[in-house]
Amino acid sequence: MAKYVINGGRPLEGTVTINGAKNAAVAILPAAILVSGKCRVENVPDISDVRILLDILQDMGAEVIWEEPGVVSIDCSAVTSTHPNPDLVRKMRASYYLMGALLSRFHQANVALPGGCNFASRPIDQHIKGFMALGADVDETEDYVNLTPGPDGLHGNRISLDVVSVGATVNIMMAACLLPGQTIIENAAKEPHIVDLANFLNTMGARISGAGTDTVKIRGVQTLKGGTYAIIPDQIEAGTYLAAVAAAGGNVLVQNVIPKHMDCITSKLQEMGVKVINYDDSIRIMSGGKLRHTTVKTRPYPGFPTDMQAQVCVCMTIAGGVSRLTESVYETRFFGYCSELEAMGADIVINGKTAIVTGIDKLHGAKVAAHDLRAGAALVIAGLAAEGTTYVENIHFIERGYERIVEKLTALGADIQRVEE
Ligand code: EPU
Repeated sequence: MAKYVINGGRPLEGTVTINGAKNAAVAILPAAILVSGKCRVENVPDISDVRILLDILQDMGAEVIWEEPGVVSIDCSAVTSTHPNPDLVRKMRASYYLMGALLSRFHQANVALPGGCNFASRPIDQHIKGFMALGADVDETEDYVNLTPGPDGLHGNRISLDVVSVGATVNIMMAACLLPGQTIIENAAKEPHIVDLANFLNTMGARISGAGTDTVKIRGVQTLKGGTYAIIPDQIEAGTYLAAVAAAGGNVLVQNVIPKHMDCITSKLQEMGVKVINYDDSIRIMSGGKLRHTTVKTRPYPGFPTDMQAQVCVCMTIAGGVSRLTESVYETRFFGYCSELEAMGADIVINGKTAIVTGIDKLHGAKVAAHDLRAGAALVIAGLAAEGTTYVENIHFIERGYERIVEKLTALGADIQRVEE
């Protein structure tokens, strides 16, 4: 087991480059199953979730080659299996995208229920509702989802999601790609990675319109051909570095970002007192003394992302005054890290969906453990801002989604080490 050892209290200075978006990559890589031919995907983050997904595809018969850092070519022409290795599938969340991709290409799929970060109950009823509307018979057991064509065969349809779900929107988009007729997803998620997946599929010959709005239309096509596509920068990785500078202090250029995707995050950090300058594809952030308290409510995009809840909470713990942080996507997400921050001196009271955070002067180092990816990232930020030494355990959660985080922070002047026990 490895852990991070962080000696806090050093401001961050310099430039950090953001990798491709995890949540776009974990949708685009399984989407290669839909393509007849080779997909060359650029800006792929080298993180453990991506490695697992590529192992799954390879195990199913795909040819997968890391051509150079950040560039992967995938050819799924030789894939015949519709039953991906369940042990690998259970290691991560987004493996459920194999359901939609296999259903579309092979008209059947037998996929274990996914694993991944377990910070809340994460049902997949909306994915299932979508597959059924597309004509699939769904046999769901405790461990597996088995999809086969129903009596009327598979076909496009109109589906209105009961909740705005990234996963269901992605899975239905994939499933509909190669089916006859038109599919319309209403109340669709609008996250940047939904648009990125649609752009990838359209580059390969799909006919998807409306991605990024709440109505996505997919006109089924017979085949998708190979091509080259570059994944967008990671909104949440970028937001994590911005929050780190806000909390630890300093002056950093965060490059390879789409500033528009960052507005919901930078506007809150500005309210808290940091200076932000947007350039075409980078953002400069400069701390400006003690942070001020604020109010944040997480919402689906373009709102403040739930995946930045924990990181902004760290900023609130050392801001002047009382901040309020309301979670509206995953109610139980506070429990993944608030008690760890309390061990570092934070004053947080959770009242239902809202955390009331009374700012203190400084956090102090402590031995803490990550319970999920973003909670882990928040503890790293807390360690950077704290006085003394912080030990962050369970770092495999963090390495699921942040490429070379230790190297990047070290280059910014942080004192952080990855120590093998
Ligand atoms: N929901 C349902 N039924 C469903 C699907 C979702 O009730 O069938 C509910 C969920 O319980 C939740 C809400 O809908 O309350 C939104 O869930 P969503 O389906 O959008 O989440 P997801 O697709 O499982 C993705 C990201 C998460 C991110 C959420 C919300 C990926 C691989 N994961 O999860 O990212 O928190 O959207 O934005 O894209 C992370 O990167 O750390 C992470 C957890």
